[in-house]
Order: sequence, then structure tokens, then C-alpha cells
Amino acid sequence: MNVHDTEKMFGVLKNIGYSNTDNPGKADLIIFNTCSIRQKAEQKFYSELGRIKSYKKNRPNLRIAVAGCIAQREGKKIIKKASYVDFVFGPQNIHKLADFISSSNGTVAVSDNPYLALIDLPVQREAGVRAWVTIMYGCNNFCSYCVVPYTRGREKSRPSEHIYAEVSEIAEKGYKEITLLGQNVNSYQSDLNFPGLLKKLNRVGGIERIRFVTSHPKDLSPELADAIAELSKVCENIHLPLQSGSDNILKLMNRVYSYDIYRDKVILLREKVPGISITSDIIAGFPGETEEDHIRTTDALKEMQFDGIFAFKFSTRPGTAAAKIEGHLPENVKSERLAEILSLQDDITLRRNLLLENTQQEILIEGISDTDKSRLAGRTRTNKIVTIPETDKLRGAIIKVEIKKARKHSLEGIRLT
Ligand code: 5AD
Ligand code: SF4
Repeated sequence: MNVHDTEKMFGVLKNIGYSNTDNPGKADLIIFNTCSIRQKAEQKFYSELGRIKSYKKNRPNLRIAVAGCIAQREGKKIIKKASYVDFVFGPQNIHKLADFISSSNGTVAVSDNPYLALIDLPVQREAGVRAWVTIMYGCNNFCSYCVVPYTRGREKSRPSEHIYAEVSEIAEKGYKEITLLGQNVNSYQSDLNFPGLLKKLNRVGGIERIRFVTSHPKDLSPELADAIAELSKVCENIHLPLQSGSDNILKLMNRVYSYDIYRDKVILLREKVPGISITSDIIAGFPGETEEDHIRTTDALKEMQFDGIFAFKFSTRPGTAAAKIEGHLPENVKSERLAEILSLQDDITLRRNLLLENTQQEILIEGISDTDKSRLAGRTRTNKIVTIPETDKLRGAIIKVEIKKARKHSLEGIRLT
């Protein structure tokens, strides 16, 4: 989400004559696009911000701005803490970036923007095969641990025509795959619901693959499972955060589903969409989590057999409901539980990938592999990275491969067509 917000900032800046540089020492403007999902992200930002102070001594005309969720939460406190910051703006005010640059310093723009979903921002994307497209902003769910509803505001869905036009433009530029973005894409609701939007976007010529993140289990309908199964371009892959396998903890988290309901949704998806890959998020050491609750989570991982997970230690976010819950756990307990979750899932991920050895898969080539320059890398429809021993100019091509070796993070294949 933040990377894509940065692409929007680049788009706005390009329109007023800026270009980007990799060298902050040469920059006229430095924007920190910040994340506050966990405390660690906030700490990283403040140490980076401290490092940048000296740049201003050498370049008095340099302007420094802070954007994103920390900007939204802290507002003018950031300027109080670091007076060399010139302006601060939240995720709902990116469209005014050009105004902030031309106005005098000290602007703090963190107001709610009721028109957010109606504003089509210019987007400066990196050249490539895959493109992100925002379909909805904000979140109404108020999971008790989460800061997002406070920083990104209430849900607002973009009109489907705006999204269709943007995707058509992306296709004309040669991108082959889109990932639809939202905190909770399956509660998308404008003139169409989310399956309706997928149907509409499936018609855009030139786009070969459609993905989406993130889905909330409560809104995962049979209609959506049907759409994934039936629409040719919608990939057989879903990120469906479980967070915990314990009903007690799910309740404290305000996730509004039980583990049984989650399991039923996974069964439905696997029935309707054969071969679907499912990934998830887990939080280790939520306040009040007992050893038994933790075992429910590891049992759930064993039962669900996810293709991969992102797991995090619970991090207290000031102002959220979970910050006030009794029974916060010591750091070492959270770390131990996280380590156990990660190591268990590592084995499961590898086992899932091993199932693909000697199968044929369709991959969309993204370019030279990051880890081995003598190979090309692409992804399966199920979002697994496959490398093949070629360096041809195949970027953007969809080819058939046979998987020869499965590893935890990637697969090795050979080209068939
Ligand atoms: N502590 C730990 N993990 C969190 N997440 C969100 N908020 C917190 C928090 N306070 C995780 C959830 C979510 C993912 C994006 O980040 O697992 O799905
Ligand atoms: Fe946060 Fe829950 Fe909304 Fe996801 S659904 S952004 S975890 S409040």
C-alpha cells in the first residue's frame, strides 16, 4: 500500500517538473513515506529522520516532508520533535502535495478527505510487468490491535469506471498483471460489489492476470470464490489473514469470525478453486494469549496448510483497544511463540512447494532473477516464484514450465514452450 502511495507521490511530483534521484545528497525534496503498523516501523523512521538532518546543513534549500501513517498519527508533533521537517501530510492528502511544495513551510495536512475515492491521482509506476491499482481506501473493521482505521479513515470505494479506465491505461502501457489494493478489498462496494468489479476488469484486453490484497475472512462470499474459479484472468491465489487459531483471541481481536468459520471458508475456496494457494497473517503473543491459545494457532497452521504466512509479534499501538487489554506478554514469550510459528510454517511451505515438483505451470516472466543473474524469474498463477535457466528477452511473456526442484522461497523449472 505504501509503495503504491509513493508511486502516486511520484506521479504528482512529475507533473510539476520533479524527477527522482537515488542520491539523497542531491535531492531538492525528500519525503519519508512512513508506516505505523508496528512499533518497529515507527522506530526505524525516527532513526532515519535523525540521519537526514545533516543533509539540510549542506543544502539549505532542501525540503523535508513526512507522509504516510506516522504523519497522520503524529501531525505537528513531528515538526516539534524535528524542526527541520518542512511539512507533514497524511495518506488522504497526497493530492495536495504540489500545493504543500509551493506554500510556506510548516503545513500539517492530516484532515479526513471525503472525496478521496473520487480523485484520480497520477501514478508514476516503475516500468515492468506488474502494476498496483487502488480500488478502495481505509478500513471500517477496527480489529483491536490495528492502527489502520485511525490513520487511513473509513472505507471509501472508487467508482468502477475510474478503476476500469486506469486498468485500461495500464494495459496500453504494456503491463500484464494488476494487483488490486485495499485494506479489505472484498468489502469493495460502489456501483458494483467486489466480484462484479473482478468481472468487469476481466474484460480489459492486454491484462493477463488479476490479483488482489487483502481480503477479510468475514467478507469472503461464495460469489467471490465463484469469481476466482470462473474468471480466466483472476489468479488462483488469496491472502486471507487468520491472525490466531483461538476463538478467545479472535474475539479479543474483534475479528468477528471463529476458527470454524474461517476453516469453512478455506474449505469452500479449495473446493471451488482447485489448486488455489492460500497465504495468511498471524500475530504471536496477543495480550491474554495463553499457552493453550498459542497451541490452537500452531494446530490451525498444521490443519490449514497455508502456502506461506507473514507472522509478527504483537506490537502495542497507542490508542487502539488492544493497548488497554490486560495481560500483555513479556517480549521473550512473544519471541518464542513467533519463532515456533515461523519454523513450523517453514516446513509446511516447503512441503506445499514440493507438491509442485514435476508438475507443469504457467509463469509470467518478470525479468532476470534477483538471486541468480543467469536465470529468469517469473511467477505461477498461484504466486510462487519460479526461476528458469535462460536470460532471453522474455519479460512479460507467459510460458509453460516444468518444475524440477522446490525450495522454501522459490521453485526451479525448465521451459516447455
Ligand atoms: N501488532 C502486530 N501485528 C500487527 N498487524 C497489524 N497490526 C499489528 C500489531 N499491532 C499485522 C496483522 C495484519 C498485518 C498487515 O499486520 O497480521 O494482517
Ligand atoms: Fe487493520 Fe483489521 Fe482493517 Fe486489516 S481489517 S486494516 S487488520 S483493522
